[in-house]
Amino acid sequence: MNETLALLQSHRSIRKFTEEAVPQEQLEHWIQAGQAAATSSFIQACTVIQVDQGDQRNVLAHLAADQQYVSEAPVFLVFCADMRRHQEACALHEADMHKGYTEQFLTASLDVGLFAQNVVVAAESEGYGICYIGALRNNIEAVSKLLELPDLVYPVFGLCIGKPAQNPEVKPRLPLSVVLKKNTYTQTGDVEAMARYDAQVQSYYQQRTGNNKAATWTSQIANMLQKEARPHMLRFLRSKGFLEK
Ligand SMILES: Cc1cc2nc3c(=O)[nH]c(=O)nc-3n(C[C@H](O)[C@H](O)[C@H](O)COP(=O)(O)O)c2cc1C
Repeated sequence: MNETLALLQSHRSIRKFTEEAVPQEQLEHWIQAGQAAATSSFIQACTVIQVDQGDQRNVLAHLAADQQYVSEAPVFLVFCADMRRHQEACALHEADMHKGYTEQFLTASLDVGLFAQNVVVAAESEGYGICYIGALRNNIEAVSKLLELPDLVYPVFGLCIGKPAQNPEVKPRLPLSVVLKKNTYTQTGDVEAMARYDAQVQSYYQQRTGNNKAATWTSQIANMLQKEARPHMLRFLRSKGFLEK
């Protein structure tokens, strides 16, 4: 396995950080690595808001399910899908921008995911740990107000970065046979493979050093998916000019 593959396979989310600061120059190199990611039709639809430690960060932590590491991480970034500057590009050329397409929402959100994951890999390659924070979307309207996000910009997730103060085990992923299909979507063997995976996840949760629990992958998914999933999202995104058609 080459160094890059080994690095990717060693990822685990970090939720406890040392107080060691991240040099701004190093962070900016990671952001540039994010910018180097592929981008749908060259739209470059990701904007990153770096939020310093202090009151604003503490409010964000509260809005994101009171996750302490949001306050404590030396770096906290909010990744936004941003179609605002495209409106300006159109205005420059006296073009009337056709807004609100689901396709534009998809491409902008995908751009953010690709950008962010490059930032993550860059940071991890230099010995830092990260944790994505989707819980910002619990209170997406308040988060957007706090960060003064204009129309056509929405916060997709946050990202904590810092030197790890814990060393959690790598979490096992679904068997390759379940996620890699040849030519067509065959389901043969998936149920059996998932049962084997459940046993593996159960033993991971029982044996890992912190936060032991009795859960399998399917039980965790069933538990999550029988609840509402941030039902305010569609109304909010539409209010920002996304997902109108
Ligand atoms: C978009 C996204 C949002 C996430 N949001 C949170 C979060 O709010 N809080 C948290 O502790 N972990 C969050 N995670 C981390 C996942 O729980 C974690 O990646 C997953 O359980 C797999 O574990 P691993 O990253 O250690 O391999 C998020 C991950 C992603 C990709």
